[in-house]
Amino acid sequence: MEYTNNSLEQHWMPFTANRDFKADPRIVVKSEGMYYIDHKGGSVLDGCSGLFCAPLGHGRPEIANAVRDQLLTNDYAPPFQVGHPGSFELASRIARITPEPINHVFFVNSGSESIDTALKMAMAYHRAKGDGHRTRFVSRERAYHGVNIGGVSLAGMVKNRETFSGVMPNVVCMRHTLMEENAFIPGQPERGVELAEDLARMCETYGGSTIAAVFVEPVAGSTGCIVPPVGYLERLREICDQHGILLVFDEVITGFGRLGHSFAADAFGVTPDIMTMAKAITNGAQPMGAVAVKDEIYETITNASPEDAIEFFHGYTFSGHPAACAAGNVTQDIFQREGLFERANKMSGYFADAVHSLKDIEAIKDIRSYGLMAAVEVKPRGAPGSLGTKLQKELFWNGLHVKFTGDSGILAPQFVVEEKHIDEMVDKLRKTLSKV
Ligand SMILES: Cc1ncc(COP(=O)(O)O)c(C=O)c1O
Repeated sequence: MEYTNNSLEQHWMPFTANRDFKADPRIVVKSEGMYYIDHKGGSVLDGCSGLFCAPLGHGRPEIANAVRDQLLTNDYAPPFQVGHPGSFELASRIARITPEPINHVFFVNSGSESIDTALKMAMAYHRAKGDGHRTRFVSRERAYHGVNIGGVSLAGMVKNRETFSGVMPNVVCMRHTLMEENAFIPGQPERGVELAEDLARMCETYGGSTIAAVFVEPVAGSTGCIVPPVGYLERLREICDQHGILLVFDEVITGFGRLGHSFAADAFGVTPDIMTMAKAITNGAQPMGAVAVKDEIYETITNASPEDAIEFFHGYTFSGHPAACAAGNVTQDIFQREGLFERANKMSGYFADAVHSLKDIEAIKDIRSYGLMAAVEVKPRGAPGSLGTKLQKELFWNGLHVKFTGDSGILAPQFVVEEKHIDEMVDKLRKTLSKV
């Protein structure tokens, strides 16, 4: 339990109020199943699978053992022009659960890298087709696509981009789909499909033939669980098809069962051209991300080069790291063996009812949910996000870990969650939020 031998000062923490945190730190010293133990010995229910990445629950010995065994057998093999068995096995497993004809998987180390990779794949695909003048990308307000320059260029959340103005040019944003009249609706709202026409207007304004790809989170996660209106994703797909634009689903949060199906693409019955993924791919036990693409994209890029030449000048030293692949293979195995996507689906009704039961609390502005993800948005007090930050801290000390973005607390329990954990989550939220 002792961490104080070290100063907290040297570690510049990410997305953290460093000065405030270091004055009153919240340090997790152990994680097991649905719970964290903090440095004071308190038990904290993990209400969002860490950061949406541990749906099997924490501390799975099968994963730890597989990583250990892998490191003792082959700790590293260069990923360029050399391979190791684990990455081929994991790519095959992922390709089996992605929708047809998405069958080719490129490994990276994070969600942010998956976005940069997808951007480059879109550029390479159009260039290989002789369509290199497609240089514009479309994103959406309130989008979060990670923090690399590619993802920040696509970002729709002001704090993530206002400091960094020198990002990729040629990105335009559609409106987000959060509508006041849809407040407190569980699942997909009926109203709002017309917002997809923003893409059609961009095609009219800029010329559809200049747009390379459209990036969307099928359910916008980090900004606070914004669920697409009925028909919205279908309409984006139609417009993309009319203009030869690639549709990219950022499934970094929604991938691997979060919505009660393998991917959001299955949940909503819309197949994108490219899917980015990360987080739950290894149950959060090793850093990893991936990009899966349709056969046509892989084949077009690959066949555009001479047979013995490198076709795609991109990759990372740690792409498909053996330890990450070992964690990924076991994670995928457990998803299947324990039927956890189905379990996520089964628990989603109880979860939605429980979270929406908080509706009567005066401080709450909106509640949104889909699958095993929900956002409880509070009415702002003072600067936007300041109440959210305060609540995140209070909830932690009251024994519940919830990730807040601005004034939205985001819940995303593990798929092994039981009704008693959901009850505990909602009780703790009620106690803290009722005092606001
Ligand atoms: C939709 C989405 N894309 C990309 C990312 C970036 O992932 P990472 O933090 O692993 O770089 C995230 C992270 O939360 C995300 O939610």
